[in-house]
Amino acid sequence: MKLPSSSATELNKQDLRHFLKTQDFTKKELSDILKLMAMLKQARKDNAVPQLFKGKSVAMIFEQPSTRTRVSFETAATLLGGHALFLSPKDIHLGAKESLEDTARVLSRMVDIIMARVDDHSTVAGLAQYASVPVVNGLCDWLHPTQIMADLFTMQEHLPENKKLSDLTVAFVGDATNVTSSLMFACTKFGMTFKHICPDRFKAPQEWINIALENCEYSGGELVITDDTAQVEGCDIVVADSFYWFGQEDEKEIRLSTFIPDYVVSEDLMAKAGADAMFMHCLPANDQRECSREVMESANSIIFDEAENRLTAQMAILAYFTYKHNTVPSAETVAAHKNKIEGFLNSL
Ligand code: CP
Repeated sequence: MKLPSSSATELNKQDLRHFLKTQDFTKKELSDILKLMAMLKQARKDNAVPQLFKGKSVAMIFEQPSTRTRVSFETAATLLGGHALFLSPKDIHLGAKESLEDTARVLSRMVDIIMARVDDHSTVAGLAQYASVPVVNGLCDWLHPTQIMADLFTMQEHLPENKKLSDLTVAFVGDATNVTSSLMFACTKFGMTFKHICPDRFKAPQEWINIALENCEYSGGELVITDDTAQVEGCDIVVADSFYWFGQEDEKEIRLSTFIPDYVVSEDLMAKAGADAMFMHCLPANDQRECSREVMESANSIIFDEAENRLTAQMAILAYFTYKHNTVPSAETVAAHKNKIEGFLNSL
């Protein structure tokens, strides 16, 4: 299919990259995004964020509710000098009165980047197939890549003394969620040891395990799949996530009875991990379910740094995926258009 051109950015297909999953990116490319995050976070602290998204717009499609992803993308667009449009399924025709293809093509003619939080990965992948601007996965049933950029950055900010990212051991305690998969892929890509501690019944599918094992082969990382919570011992970071998500409500009872109490990240479990082990959670958390409020509020909890870094990540993602498509007009071109248009308006 011939890709339509975008009036906003006029991208060639070879210049177009989507952020559907971290697996599509090399460790060097992901590290570059982390470096950009560090620079933008400092710029934000200094109230001096460069206007890298000036005059640009991000269309944000949300099939599911969101606090962090919505607010961080919207704020990031504003900080960078651009604009964000919130599009819920009841506001647009996507999937009901208009096909995915037509929606992607129309949005590409008006905005510079599309971010979509969707029920099913095929929707964000379909948008990417037909869009002529970058498409970012803001969470799907399988993956949550923008969350994981914030997570890697937060780990980097809190590295134990004399350790680098590849030295870390990360234990994810609980269900095989979209955060589990994304974290499993990213941690193993960066050469870390990643432990998924989960009852057998809900463990990660073999397809995810194969991807992570392949990462380990060239990164030197390690993957541990176990149902034994004693495996948290010596971990640098313990991660929790909800035990069920949208679309899994009918499994709520069986999930809660399987995970609670053994897989709840409690103060006892954190003590098993060790005095220096940090606690992460992408939020929202169901405290007293997958983790205790005491753990969330403890000195070792870095969950609110993690949440703030969603904004750090989104600034970098908007800049990384659109900056090279900027065309800066000369002062003469700007003046010529201004004179012509204002001359016309003055003549009316
Ligand atoms: N962690 C996360 O994606 O949060 P929201 O659902 O609030 O966006």
